[in-house]
Amino acid sequence: MLRLPSLPLLPLLILSFLFPVLSYNQRQVYIVYLGEHSGTKTTQEIQGDHHSLLLSVKNSEAETRESLLYSYKNSINGFAALLSDEEATKLSEMDEVLSTFRSEGRRSPHTTRSWEFIGYEEGLKGSERDWLRSKAEYGKKVIVGMLDSGIWPESESFSDEGMGPIPKHWKGICEEGDAFNSSHCNKKLIGARYYVKAYEAYHGPLNTTYAFRSPRDNDGHGTHTASTVAGRVVRRASALGGFACGTASGGAPLARLAVYKVCWPIPGPNPNIENTCFDADMLAAIDDAIGDGVHILSISIGAVGTPPVYSEDGIALGALHAAKHGIVVSCSGGNSGPTPATVSNLAPWMITVAASSIDRAFDSPILLGNGTTMKGQTVTPYKLKGNELYPLVYAGDAVVPGTPSNVSGQCLPNTLSAKKVRGKIVLCLRGSGLRAAKGLEVKRAGGAAIILGNAPPNGKEIPVDSHVLPGTAVSSDDAIAILKYINSTRRPSATIGRARTILDVRPAPVMTAFSSRGPNRVDPNILKPDITAPGLNILAAWSESSSPTKLEDDHRSVKYNLLSGTSMSCPHVSATATLLKSMHPYWSSAAIRSAIMTTATVRNAKGGLIANAAGEEAGPLDYGSGHVRPTHASDPGLVYEASYRDYLLFACSSIGVQMDPTFPCPKSPPSTFNLNYPSVSVSNLNGSIDVHRTVTNVGQQKAWYRVSVVEPSGVSVKISPNILKFERVGEEKSFTIKLQVDGRKGAGSGEYVAGSYTWSDGTHDVRSPIVVSVA
Ligand SMILES: *[C@@H]1O[C@H](CO)[C@@H](O)[C@H](O)[C@H]1NC(C)=O
Ligand SMILES: *[C@@H]1O[C@H](CO)[C@@H](O)[C@H](O)[C@H]1NC(C)=O
Ligand SMILES: *[C@@H]1O[C@H](CO)[C@@H](O)[C@H](O)[C@H]1NC(C)=O
Ligand SMILES: *[C@@H]1O[C@H](CO)[C@@H](O)[C@H](O)[C@H]1NC(C)=O
Ligand SMILES: *[C@@H]1O[C@H](CO)[C@@H](O)[C@H](O)[C@H]1NC(C)=O
Ligand SMILES: *[C@@H]1O[C@H](CO)[C@@H](O)[C@H](O)[C@H]1NC(C)=O
Repeated sequence: MLRLPSLPLLPLLILSFLFPVLSYNQRQVYIVYLGEHSGTKTTQEIQGDHHSLLLSVKNSEAETRESLLYSYKNSINGFAALLSDEEATKLSEMDEVLSTFRSEGRRSPHTTRSWEFIGYEEGLKGSERDWLRSKAEYGKKVIVGMLDSGIWPESESFSDEGMGPIPKHWKGICEEGDAFNSSHCNKKLIGARYYVKAYEAYHGPLNTTYAFRSPRDNDGHGTHTASTVAGRVVRRASALGGFACGTASGGAPLARLAVYKVCWPIPGPNPNIENTCFDADMLAAIDDAIGDGVHILSISIGAVGTPPVYSEDGIALGALHAAKHGIVVSCSGGNSGPTPATVSNLAPWMITVAASSIDRAFDSPILLGNGTTMKGQTVTPYKLKGNELYPLVYAGDAVVPGTPSNVSGQCLPNTLSAKKVRGKIVLCLRGSGLRAAKGLEVKRAGGAAIILGNAPPNGKEIPVDSHVLPGTAVSSDDAIAILKYINSTRRPSATIGRARTILDVRPAPVMTAFSSRGPNRVDPNILKPDITAPGLNILAAWSESSSPTKLEDDHRSVKYNLLSGTSMSCPHVSATATLLKSMHPYWSSAAIRSAIMTTATVRNAKGGLIANAAGEEAGPLDYGSGHVRPTHASDPGLVYEASYRDYLLFACSSIGVQMDPTFPCPKSPPSTFNLNYPSVSVSNLNGSIDVHRTVTNVGQQKAWYRVSVVEPSGVSVKISPNILKFERVGEEKSFTIKLQVDGRKGAGSGEYVAGSYTWSDGTHDVRSPIVVSVA
């Protein structure tokens, strides 16, 4: 998805306007969390319990009924209600209440070639690349729940042609609404629901001129992510202008989709540019998804800014219940990189996905008037007329008076002088504002084409846009060279050549600059992100009621679109989990996460180490365990298991919160670095500590594993025992990792250093990154 500057939180809506009968100016949506349902109560009894709890802080039956938005009934025991701060405080003091928190709006931050590229990354050739998918029957028995902006059901990617009957355990529904009825569901799209109550309590009634009050996707994001996970094989799919043409297919093309629409447009001048997804709506969706019988949840949504603690985070709380029910939850890590400590979705019971590039580019050469050519990239469907040179101008030299100097090269709306840009190619810089909107501004002012220059942090990484006029985009070095050229001559000129898609670009993958980075701000003893997958310029299905740029003034409609973001990488991992679930139906969600993480690679397709966009070597704070390798993940050899109880203990230790009423926190719970996680992270290491881990054999009956270690600089690592002998499948073995600050080498205080350890039996390499910061 487009990267956006973070918007200031909108002031809370005055609810007296919405609910004139009950004027409570300060009421907001709160979530009151009570833990887990015991399973013996009926829906009516549950609602009755929630109602009476709420009634104890309200004045009347009528007010209680009106303020209760959701009563979560399947797994999550809790409710969402309109409360004043005092009412919320009163509820939070009650014995049975585990946590009370405001329902915040989260953002959705955060194919053709990407699956072939992943196969390539694994070192697989030809038909080997399809081995896993065919072995996993393309995921046909697995149901994937998508929390997103809905779906465009008519897309060919969601055809159910030739698909077998819906799995028998499925209990979901096809909820009807605007432009969506039960006939839109089929054997591919087996469920669809929408959740808008918390959104409306905040933003007022949904404006149906730009949103469907139904599971139908007006935005495109939900359609894109759903088709990346489970879209059918569609031949000759391409973006506008024929770019990225090829066979589009999701990672698990026969998996079933259940769509839970929780993201809605933020009202304003450009409502569909950015979505918001409220905690209370998402919890309702996750609770339904658990009850409906999904196996995998794919959530390309995350908090922006300070990450909430697990007990006050709708996604984390829902994911905990999902994990208890064996559901794998895969989430996007966010698009706030490369700044450190920006990653979101930080709970250890989910998989957090970073974004990297694939091996495809969209070349369009630029010829400068002095005879130099340079490489640009674009997927704009428009071309300049003829081959002649056009006058070239830097946007900063063509602004209308009054444009603040700090944004003068940025081509923000209504900043360009028509007199100075008419008929010219305009060089605009990235930094603030939407990329595609800069093209729109050049067009508005009468420019002939746009050259979009990266800002230095973006380096060589180019997210391509389907601009509304001819154009291309260049690296930050090339942007500076063009600026120099403009400065060097009185009549600068240029032209932009025809663009084409090129494959096998090297190096790939490269970590994208936008991908959010570790360390984990809620608990630095859990490494996040966990893994990286393709998230730059990914082609997938799109909503036909949206435009490729999503700008209000762009009226084009497309069936497939190229997007970038961790929103795009997350569904690649969701699909990988889907194939693993299909092959290993009885594996726990922890085992599937472990398999994905311990088999990842830190090398690129050239055999070198994966680098960051700026060119330096990347590490675990950028990509966690490395780049996903689905075929390897299907046979990991060993896995790190973790149970619901382990997660509860972790929460006791990490945030000091009891997450389940039947599980009081012990006096001294184990340190959080001792959660049996497939990576090791220790912050503030002082002297030495022992980290404990247990692995479970899921490979051959008899196996001998020997460990090898790459020590982080300045930290010694001793693992004992250093050989593990297994006699049968399912057997567990424990070991200790002693980490000690090595005074002689002296890692800098607070600095993160990285290493790894790998258990190997000659066939399987079970690798875990080690990240340490020294006190
Ligand atoms: C559902 O909508 C489609 C068109 O969108 C229409 O053709 C069909 O008759 C509707 N079906 C029902 C059951 O209302
Ligand atoms: C709904 O959105 C349209 C288009 O942005 C706008 O013209 C209209 O005033 C909005 N309606 C309400 C009730 O806000
Ligand atoms: C530009 O400067 C103004 C005030 O001088 C400030 O409010 C704004 O945030 C700045 N914009 C950027 C993109 O730095
Ligand atoms: C171009 O010239 C302007 C002043 O004329 C100067 O401020 C700017 O740094 C120059 N840009 C480059 C890239 O040389
Ligand atoms: C044209 O300008 C660019 C940017 O200033 C410069 O790098 C290049 O050497 C110039 N080419 C020629 C042929 O002078
Ligand atoms: C490390 O531990 C020693 C002994 O327990 C203590 O004196 C020292 O203050 C600790 N250093 C840091 C930076 O925590």
